[in-house]
Amino acid sequence: MPIHEHPTLAQFLLQDKRSRGAFGTDLVQLLLDVAQACKAVSRTVAGGSLRGVFGSANAVNVQGETQAKLDVLADEIFRERTEFGGHVAAVASEEQEEPVPVPQDYPRGDFLLLYDPLDGSSNIDVNVSVGSIFSVLRAPRPGEPVEAADFLQPGARQVAAGYAIYGPSTKLVLTVGSGVHGFTLDPVLGDFRLTRPNMTIPAATKEFAVNASNSRFWEAPVKRYVEECMAGAEGPRGKDFNMRWIASMVAEVHRILVRGGVFLYPRDSRPGSRKGRLRLMYEGNPMSMLIEQAGGLSTTGTERVLDIVPDELHQRVPLILGSAEEVERIQAYHRAGPEPVIDTPLFNARGLFRTA
Ligand code: F6P
Ligand code: MN
Repeated sequence: MPIHEHPTLAQFLLQDKRSRGAFGTDLVQLLLDVAQACKAVSRTVAGGSLRGVFGSANAVNVQGETQAKLDVLADEIFRERTEFGGHVAAVASEEQEEPVPVPQDYPRGDFLLLYDPLDGSSNIDVNVSVGSIFSVLRAPRPGEPVEAADFLQPGARQVAAGYAIYGPSTKLVLTVGSGVHGFTLDPVLGDFRLTRPNMTIPAATKEFAVNASNSRFWEAPVKRYVEECMAGAEGPRGKDFNMRWIASMVAEVHRILVRGGVFLYPRDSRPGSRKGRLRLMYEGNPMSMLIEQAGGLSTTGTERVLDIVPDELHQRVPLILGSAEEVERIQAYHRAGPEPVIDTPLFNARGLFRTA
């Protein structure tokens, strides 16, 4: 295969830097460190039971979630691989309550790195795809010690964002503000090679992803949208939809970037989910940047996710993202306010699921 057809991640980034001049070598180096971390996590995940890395770490993280052993390992791998190079001033992780400054004896760089080192970790034990998500911000006060508040920047200020997915093959999907580009890991040479340049999300779709077991807790606009999809060709949408739920956001977003679709994890009335379930700074923001860079949209239902000014590192966010036409429709349902929710043939007087 000629090298120009599938450039390595390093070649791609250097070429982009030379042609656009939008970033410096330090960002290239940081992203290569992140890619190294992803490769190390990929190997650890792939070792599975043979490496004894499955199961619970018998600990609980800052979100009150039980940590898997791999959550803890992936967190250590990310920090170890990224804090040494002199490109970050501090890192923040889903698994750490506070940001972690780089150790005193390492040089401090100009970037802040945030990550969810192992997304979808409830899927590990059943051998379903998991991933890592990352977001890069500039340190607002370069050279000075980092404070927690320095991280609280809206997602629109991200300089890079991406994820790795550990599936049948390991892939890295990245944006540095000029489109979304997908790389596949060559497991023999250890290179990420460009395999999907300029990923774009079709504006129209017939596929949605939502955890439908929460439907009784949803707000009216989300109920309306999903019920109209479920009503299919006989309903107001006049077409049949397909539903998917992997419970690994990385895998859902990857599917949407490859073939379109819409993903919803809305806020709901359960006590822990009133502000949403997913975390803004290392799940919502990086995925929203990727989705927008690929021509899709990302919203809370009422607000562009990338415009949210965060007030805490681990804050949650309602997330509705993917194909533009569907996201616009869901936003319109939010603007319209309370509507008669059960308004499809399936639910009417003679319908299958009539309530009276
Ligand atoms: O990181 C949180 C996460 O694991 C996502 O990857 C996934 O989309 C979601 O939680 C699954 O949530 P639930 O268990 O409610 O289906
Ligand atoms: Mn996650």
